Amino acid sequence: MTDDHSMNHHNSAEQQIDDVAVKRYFDSTRGGTASTVSMMAHEHNLPACAAEYRLHKEIRTISDWLDSVCDSGRVLDVGCGAGTWTEIFAGRYKTVTGIEQSSSMLKAAIERTAHIPNIKILGGDARHGLPEGPFDMIFLGGLCMYMNDSDVIALLRFLKNRLIEGGTIILRESTVHQGISLSQGEYQAVYRSVNRYRQLFDRVGLFRMEVRRNYGYTNLVTAEELVTLRRRWLPFLPGNSTTLGSLTWWALRLTAPITFWVLPQILSQLNIPWPGLQNHFFRLRIVK
Ligand SMILES: C[S@@+](CC[C@H](N)C(=O)[O-])C[C@H]1O[C@@H](n2cnc3c(N)ncnc32)[C@H](O)[C@@H]1O
Repeated sequence: MTDDHSMNHHNSAEQQIDDVAVKRYFDSTRGGTASTVSMMAHEHNLPACAAEYRLHKEIRTISDWLDSVCDSGRVLDVGCGAGTWTEIFAGRYKTVTGIEQSSSMLKAAIERTAHIPNIKILGGDARHGLPEGPFDMIFLGGLCMYMNDSDVIALLRFLKNRLIEGGTIILRESTVHQGISLSQGEYQAVYRSVNRYRQLFDRVGLFRMEVRRNYGYTNLVTAEELVTLRRRWLPFLPGNSTTLGSLTWWALRLTAPITFWVLPQILSQLNIPWPGLQNHFFRLRIVK
């Protein structure tokens, strides 16, 4: 999500998230489909292939982490949304269980995966009940950003006990460069820096953490930021235009070597925080 949702800087994420608002947001697909809302790619009129591009790049980013889980592995996908990753895991591992609290996401995930025999989708709040396991890999794709610190810590402690020895937890979270930013109102989220996540994981204890920047997400957010800028500075153009959204996406794609590869690297080297939101993958493994 970009600056369509006001972001405020805070020192602590404690009790800043309204859980009811989070559930309400994901219960409504607000003009998108459950899949695009699940991928957070529904508010900028970008074509469906933009979300697919992000997803393929994300899979490439962590492909060695995914390869390191054995084919006979049991996977838990917490906050599985419309089941995009659940389906991917089902093609690679023996069994996958998805858990999701929003009724519209749950319905979409069940419909999407109904024909896949090694997937089980469960409804419910992950903080109040999880399948027993044990699991070889647990995936949290954009989940902790909707939770207060205390919930993240409690959930991770819980999940740690559901891992096999040598098992991994992979998280994908939107992040900020420093400290914490909050999105409040209809769309509630807490954007923590990588360091903040490191501190939270330290409080859970016994985890070894690896982190990777998610450039697939950066590419999508770059397109979203351009749409937002166009809406702000060229108000005489139609604000909600799929044609303009597609043009923005394809202009970026055609110049990808510069816009998607060189530019983000240069901005990162120069410590320039644009786009404001980043995204990272974290791999947690229990320290022996
Ligand atoms: C940004 S979406 C990501 C969906 C999916 N993991 C993906 O990567 O496509 C976050 C999902 O987490 C779900 N969620 C948030 N809090 C939850 C909780 N406490 N228990 C279960 N699901 C939750 C939301 O309903 C939403 O579907």
